[in-house]
Amino acid sequence: MTPIVGAASSALRVVQWTTGKTGTAAVIGILGDPGLELIGCFAYSADKVGRDVGDLCGIGPIGVISTDDVEALIALQPDCVVYTAYRPDFDHLERVLESGINVVTTMYMLAGEGHGDVATRRIREAAARGRASLYSSGIYPGHAPMVALAASAMCRTIDRLSILESLDIQEYGNAPMFRAMGFDRDAGDPEVAVMAEASCGSFKDQIRVLARALCVEVDRVDFRVETATADRDTDFGFMTVGAGRVAGIQGVVAGIRDDRPVIECRFVWKLGSEMTPDWPVTNGYLIEIEGDPGVRCKIEALAGNLPGATVTAMPVVNAIRATCAAAPGIVNQMEMPLVRAAHRIA
Ligand SMILES: NC(=O)c1ccc[n+]([C@@H]2O[C@H](COP(=O)([O-])OP(=O)(O)OC[C@H]3O[C@@H](n4cnc5c(N)ncnc54)[C@H](OP(=O)(O)O)[C@@H]3O)[C@@H](O)[C@H]2O)c1
Repeated sequence: MTPIVGAASSALRVVQWTTGKTGTAAVIGILGDPGLELIGCFAYSADKVGRDVGDLCGIGPIGVISTDDVEALIALQPDCVVYTAYRPDFDHLERVLESGINVVTTMYMLAGEGHGDVATRRIREAAARGRASLYSSGIYPGHAPMVALAASAMCRTIDRLSILESLDIQEYGNAPMFRAMGFDRDAGDPEVAVMAEASCGSFKDQIRVLARALCVEVDRVDFRVETATADRDTDFGFMTVGAGRVAGIQGVVAGIRDDRPVIECRFVWKLGSEMTPDWPVTNGYLIEIEGDPGVRCKIEALAGNLPGATVTAMPVVNAIRATCAAAPGIVNQMEMPLVRAAHRIA
């Protein structure tokens, strides 16, 4: 019988880097795969150091204790780190990669150019020294655009490929992240557009990855954004949004060729629905390929809303095996076999 490629033989040893929203979902995902073994966890917050990781993730003790001692985690010689911190620490990443430890991450820009030349060079050179691989994904950027690429295989010609994320983001409940995007700022504040664009840096990297995958050269990447303002004061539990302040952000990051958009990453993000204008949301992802033939493809929950943290974490957790087997350096989707939920049919 032909062996199944990627079947579990001996478990890969994994260290989780932080247990925030995505990190918690990653821990649960790692524990659910018999081919992965969680052997350590980095804690950023002082009050999480020395705590059982299962307790931090709300699933009860699992016997793995979190630490802020990077060298102790490296000494465990894990095969892979799942890196889901809020902001990158390039000293940490450099040490991990140059120690020969592979990294999967939901920080899409770590595999791109969004952090600038110096940071990108540090990652590349550390990976080369350690002969380790770094792979970035998530849901968007990351996996939803890969579904769009898979759909493009049906097309003879393509005029425009677009992906839309359309969400009421309440479910994700990440106040620092939403504030950094411009939510709850004064609607007239010119900083809002700057903040929204900074938060969309990873989509610029995503456009370049899609362009490379489709073998098209884009002349430039444009960004456009508009905001909706809250009709009244609202307390969402994790943050408040005041009347007249930013409660919705929609926009597009577009790869332009010959003055027309050929690849688009679009987004509609809303906190609630009491805002003007009140754009409709579909709570999922809409892929549209205008071409011959035109193709539409939706990603949505069977019931309720997609759990944001889970669908962000699993495309990297499910890529651990392939990342450990990949050639050293930054690998992106084109250098990887199809990332899928192997070993997860109970
Ligand atoms: N591609 C995608 O689809 C996608 C979607 C969502 C998020 N993301 C990215 O995934 C990463 C994790 O997102 P998240 O929502 O899980 O983040 P989060 O919950 O806000 O933060 C994750 C953890 O980062 C640590 N942390 C807090 N402040 C920090 C700081 N100033 N510098 C470094 N670390 C800090 C904390 O670790 P401790 O728990 O140890 O204290 C925190 O729990 C972010 O980079 C985000 O942009 C990607």
